[in-house]
Amino acid sequence: MVEIVPSILSADFARLAGEIASVERGGASILHLDVMDGHFVPNITIGPPVVASIRKATRLRLDCHLMIERPERYAQAFIDAGANSVSVQYEACRHLDATLTMIKQAGALAGVVLNPATPIAVLEDVLEVADYVLLMSVNPGWGGQKLIPYVLEKVRKLARMRRERKLAFPIEIDGGIHRENLAEAVRAGCEWIVTGSAIFHGSDAEAATREMREIAAHAAALEC
Ligand code: DX5
Ligand code: ZN
Repeated sequence: MVEIVPSILSADFARLAGEIASVERGGASILHLDVMDGHFVPNITIGPPVVASIRKATRLRLDCHLMIERPERYAQAFIDAGANSVSVQYEACRHLDATLTMIKQAGALAGVVLNPATPIAVLEDVLEVADYVLLMSVNPGWGGQKLIPYVLEKVRKLARMRRERKLAFPIEIDGGIHRENLAEAVRAGCEWIVTGSAIFHGSDAEAATREMREIAAHAAALEC
C-alpha cells in the first residue's frame, strides 16, 4: 500500500493543528516529523514535547525521523510522546542492532535511514531486524531541496534485495518528491513517500495530499 506521508517541516508551525487536519482530510494516514539536533545536521527542529502535543491533536500515525547524534538516548522519549515509528540514521548509530531492538521493544516500528552517499550494502545483515528502511533522497537538514537522482537506483536495488530475501518491509523515501517525480519513486519500489514543500508550500494542503495520493495509487496500479 503506497502512502503519501506529509512532512510538517514545511508547514506553518503557528497553525500546526490546522495544517495536520488538512492533510488528514486529504487522506494521509501517516505524518512525518523531522527531528534535528544542530549536530548530526546543522538545523534544529522539534523535540518530544512538540510530538506529545501533536499526538493529542491527531489520530494519524506519527513517524519520527531522528536526524540526531546518539539517537539511542532519545528514542524512548519520542515513543513515550506518542511516536508510532522511529527511524535512526545509520551514520549516527554506533550500535544499530541494539538501537533498533530497543525501539521495537518499546512498542514502535524501528526504521533505519541511509544518507544519499551511504550504500545499501550496509543493510545486508540488519535487514531482518529493521521494520522499514528510509532512503534519503536529499542530504538531510532542510526541506525544499532537489531529489538526488542516483537514490532512485538505490531504491531499485533495495527492492530487489527485499524480493530476493522474501522480506516485506516498506521502503520510505524522503526529500525532493513532488507531483512530477512521484510516480517514478513508486515504480522504483517506494511505499512511504515523504513530502513536505509539495504539500505545505502551495495554497491547499488538503487538495495537494489528495492529488499526490491519486498519482501514487495510479502508478502503483500500473506496476501490478
Ligand atoms: C529533510 C527532511 C525531510 C523534508 C522533506 O532533511 O528529512 O523530511 O521535510 O521536505 P521536501 O519534501 O520539501 O524535500
Ligand atoms: Zn525526514
